[in-house]
Amino acid sequence: MLISVVGTGYLGATHAACLAACGHEVVGVDTDPDKVARLSSGRAPFVEPGLDELLGRGVASGCLTFTTELAAAAAADVHFLCVGTPQMPGSHAADLRALESVVAALAPHLDRPCLVVGKSTVPVGTAPRLAQVLRETAPAGDAVEIAWNPEFLREGHAVEDSLHPDRLVLGVQSDPADQVLREVYARAIVDGVPVVRTDLATAELAKVSANAMLAARISLVNLLAEVCEAADADVADLTTALGLDRRIGPQFLRPGIGYGGGCLPKDTRAFAARAEELGVGVPAGLLREVDTVNMRQRARTIDLAARVLGGSPRGHRVAVLGAAFKAGSDDVRDSPALDVAGTLQARGADVHVYDPEAGDNARRARPGLRVEPSVEAACRDADLVLVLTEWEEFAGLDPVSLAAVVRTPAVLDGRLVLPVDKWRAAGWDVHALGRGSG
Ligand code: UDX
Repeated sequence: MLISVVGTGYLGATHAACLAACGHEVVGVDTDPDKVARLSSGRAPFVEPGLDELLGRGVASGCLTFTTELAAAAAADVHFLCVGTPQMPGSHAADLRALESVVAALAPHLDRPCLVVGKSTVPVGTAPRLAQVLRETAPAGDAVEIAWNPEFLREGHAVEDSLHPDRLVLGVQSDPADQVLREVYARAIVDGVPVVRTDLATAELAKVSANAMLAARISLVNLLAEVCEAADADVADLTTALGLDRRIGPQFLRPGIGYGGGCLPKDTRAFAARAEELGVGVPAGLLREVDTVNMRQRARTIDLAARVLGGSPRGHRVAVLGAAFKAGSDDVRDSPALDVAGTLQARGADVHVYDPEAGDNARRARPGLRVEPSVEAACRDADLVLVLTEWEEFAGLDPVSLAAVVRTPAVLDGRLVLPVDKWRAAGWDVHALGRGSG
């Protein structure tokens, strides 16, 4: 099947490479010539395990091409819309301008029957508006059908999540559209991936609802951490106990500085804004509270750091281990780690940051921060070390040798990844939100 993928960010580049790996002929389209050049050479413009290999194979086989020309997509049977829907400046709503302009630009090229499939995360009710634009401006008119097929991939596991998803949600308006999408995903379906066929609105909601559930879970666990502090209890043991309940399960139960990244924060806000528009105020209120609790974790982390430093970060040298919004990624969008580092710096600390992958992006995003090439360089003479991204490299650090590098052996574990007993035995003061008097 000939498929176009419009927008080649985390989602589109991975989707294009995985479709090619499943035997389709794929053309990826993006307005950014640098990104297109890099992808055309078989390399991803970001860190994503396994993606370079897949891109390299696809490009070498000739089944996967990238271009800046939308006209190259004209002949495709299926067009996937994968452009970003960031937070609107000055508002909590989603900014759909990129998506709308891609649909407006694609429509004049659609002169034969085809399926346009939205994958971008959108407010419920977007698909019918795009369908109307396509109907009115595509030469093929009514022969252009729209479907919605949300993507649930996680950064750092994007290839695995795309090739072996937990489920496929197919939001379709007809049996032929359903058939086409089942052909696109034939390999995954043969492998037993469950398919949920829905209407367009339910498919749009499936994505924001999943992200809202995940965000709410993290915020709830962070609220429990706060109660633990007040009650002198231990949130790490508490989440172990909770996670063993099979109805709850152990995933997404890690407390700490909260969630970040290009999806959870902005999707939760956009969902709240859309719920408000739809006149469902109580759901909107709960979603806003999830966001408030999440952002508060960053402030609580800074307060704890200030307390450990004797009342204020001013004049202290501080090491921040982690800049990426999570381990396994070089993405620093809405990164809690970078946010905390920047605020400590703004409050007068001399902040030195290290991240195994996100150093360059951190430098670009926060030119004022000192980004160091290693843990040791970041920690040299530090009065406090903060572990703010859950990299395995940090969990496995040797507290004995690191104690010889710092000025004061004090660590704030913002992700609850350190083996506390081992660090305490090496002479460290270990602090964490949610750990009793910690
Ligand atoms: C998320 C969704 O998981 C994915 O389905 C969707 O397609 C895109 O958004 P991603 O942004 O890659 O994926 O990150 P995710 O793994 O969900 O983590 C989000 C944030 O939550 C990270 O900052 C992570 O550190 C934090 N997190 C995660 C916690 O604080 N605690 C946890 O228990 C789990």
